[in-house]
Amino acid sequence: MNAGSGLFHVIDTRQFERPMLDRLCRLATRVRTLAKSRQGARQLRRLAPDRRAMLYFTQPSTRTFLSFNSACHILGMQTSEIRNPSISSEVKGETFEDSIRTFSSYADAIIMRTPEGGKAARAAELMDSIPRPVPVINAGSGPDQHPTQALLDIYTLERSFEKRGGIDGKTIAMMGDLRRGRTVRSLSYLMKNYRDVRLWFVAPPGLEIKQDVLDHLDSHGVACESTSRLDDVAGELDALYVTRLQSEYGEEEPGAVEYASYAIGLEQMDKFPPGAIIMHPLPRGPELSPAIDNDPRVMYWRQERNGMWIRVALLALIFNLANELEAGIS
Ligand code: NCD
Repeated sequence: MNAGSGLFHVIDTRQFERPMLDRLCRLATRVRTLAKSRQGARQLRRLAPDRRAMLYFTQPSTRTFLSFNSACHILGMQTSEIRNPSISSEVKGETFEDSIRTFSSYADAIIMRTPEGGKAARAAELMDSIPRPVPVINAGSGPDQHPTQALLDIYTLERSFEKRGGIDGKTIAMMGDLRRGRTVRSLSYLMKNYRDVRLWFVAPPGLEIKQDVLDHLDSHGVACESTSRLDDVAGELDALYVTRLQSEYGEEEPGAVEYASYAIGLEQMDKFPPGAIIMHPLPRGPELSPAIDNDPRVMYWRQERNGMWIRVALLALIFNLANELEAGIS
């Protein structure tokens, strides 16, 4: 484990406590401010030119890949990538473990996304058993976890409620395919770190959030309730987190007609209190109408940018560069 920040692998949001979340948010803001000037951007690039990251993405990705890639480059890091396993030695039958160990021979961090659950955790376990381990960062592991998405969501919520006491005391609804959506699972786990948060899970019958998440929240005293109707809760929300149907994970689905009532468009926007924000991890499906894209309450474009800043902050913590950033590099 890393003696400096205490952060090495990033696998599951249950590993994060409030002080580290607050520190990451402060660091992300510091990076965002520095990156605005050419001099600041140059200073950031001088932080880690000797570090290399392997981006191993065998599941489709646009935002997560690009924002990690950009985050590495902001710190001056070098990146390599495999996005198509058919051009790696896996086609010759090389095992997952041997591939991961090989990446660690050339890289100082492995950032990985897989269609199967549990793979990032397996890679981290392997690293912990070899002489030269490198940190593993989970960029999405099947339907189970997407921790860095949850961190960027936390940063977006904190920024949006900056003048209203932050996330503490807010009422937040997560809506859509909550059974298979990894972003909602990861974000829900983080809510135990905030005081007096009320969570609503809004899902069509058959796609409700899984019991293990509810049990986790319950055991940490987080107030949460479920409903199948957005109208029941729209009027009391500070934030609504919308998600798409996760058809790629198979399993039975409710009919398309039913999912249509879990969509947001101009008509629904009138139902929320004036300060309520709308979030979505993207990519969107029909559940998010482009007609609302320019509404000031819409945060999904800002989430994309925040994803880059929070990933720089995360890499800075992992590589022990945070103190330097916090002290004000010159
Ligand atoms: C999410 C994902 O991959 O889980 N996308 C993302 O990383 N921004 C959400 C999704 O695909 O629905």
